[in-house]
Amino acid sequence: MRERITSGKPQAQDRTVDADLRPKRLSEYIGQERLKENLRIFLEAAKGRGEPLDHVLFYGPPGLGKTTLAYIIANEMGTNLKITSGPAIERPGDLASILTNMSKGDVLFIDEIHRLGKAVEEVLYPAMEDFALDIIIGKGPSARSVRLKLPRFTVVGATTRLALMTSPLRGRFGVVYRLDFYDLAAMEQIVTRSAAILGVRLSPEGAREIARRSRGTPRVANRLLRRVRDFADVRAQGEITLDVAREALSLLDVDDLGLDEVDRRVIRTIIEKFGGGPVGLDTIAASISEEPDTIMDVYEPYLLQLGFLERTSRGRVATRRAYEHLGIPYPADTVQQPGLF
Ligand SMILES: Nc1ncnc2c1ncn2[C@@H]1O[C@H](COP(=O)(O)OP(=O)(O)OP(=O)(O)O)[C@@H](O)[C@H]1O
Ligand SMILES: [Mg+2]
Repeated sequence: MRERITSGKPQAQDRTVDADLRPKRLSEYIGQERLKENLRIFLEAAKGRGEPLDHVLFYGPPGLGKTTLAYIIANEMGTNLKITSGPAIERPGDLASILTNMSKGDVLFIDEIHRLGKAVEEVLYPAMEDFALDIIIGKGPSARSVRLKLPRFTVVGATTRLALMTSPLRGRFGVVYRLDFYDLAAMEQIVTRSAAILGVRLSPEGAREIARRSRGTPRVANRLLRRVRDFADVRAQGEITLDVAREALSLLDVDDLGLDEVDRRVIRTIIEKFGGGPVGLDTIAASISEEPDTIMDVYEPYLLQLGFLERTSRGRVATRRAYEHLGIPYPADTVQQPGLF
């Protein structure tokens, strides 16, 4: 699949810049005010008591700052951060070796935690709850289980799919925070901050335009900023003004609301092939040759947020706003009222 510039999922091109642009302290982290306020109290309380932090789970669409928060938590607590992910921990032994290398208070970040295997999860339960590791020594009838004590540590989990997490695992997190799409004001600040770090000249109107089309997603904003900067360097002596931002973004096929050609195809398919819905996700996916998972993680959350799609028990339905955005007449408006003529 072609890498989409408007996708919140990380791409190769983000890797180096992500690290430079990532806020390191909670005070630098823009937006998500409620979450930040709660987290601040939570961190201070743990520090005040001189205790490691309780386990924390973040969930929400990709690119909203979950990994960033894991770094911030370790930074604010003054501890080490170990990073891994659900798919990376293949066997229980892999997890055991990570856990036995932790020191007191360390933070273990597990990205895509909903993708942990069952056998691995079972090792994680007592580790999170009792800070203990049960290992089997020997084989066959002489095998016995030995309980190893672990230092108190903190798991920070992240997932784009809370619903796919098992409830025993979810239950072991003391706090669960949901990340939402950022509002326009926060997005403007993020773009402006990133431009300053990258040394890009950007007018306030240019910042607003990039912010508006970034789908409430910081990772997308940073990516668009870099592409618009390229355009500005080549065509506009390096300065991003409103006109430069507009021109560059339309060249990138990112429309006024931050939708690209694939988003529009999703909506158009529902409207034109399925009479506006309801139609199942798998059917939509098949007709545009995309993975249902990609649609669910990447395209759908923002379309739902815009109010372009509705999720019903029988499938997805395109709303009037979606018709209007694509310039297609809404059926209810074109049906002739009986008795009028
Ligand atoms: N609140 C924020 N303020 C400023 N920049 C942010 C903020 N949140 C995220 N960013 C920027 O967006 C980039 C992506 O964030 P991050 O990697 O934390 O997303 P994520 O939620 O972990 O995504 P994924 O679900 O794909 O793992 C970061 O490099 C950072 O520069
Ligand atoms: Mg991440």
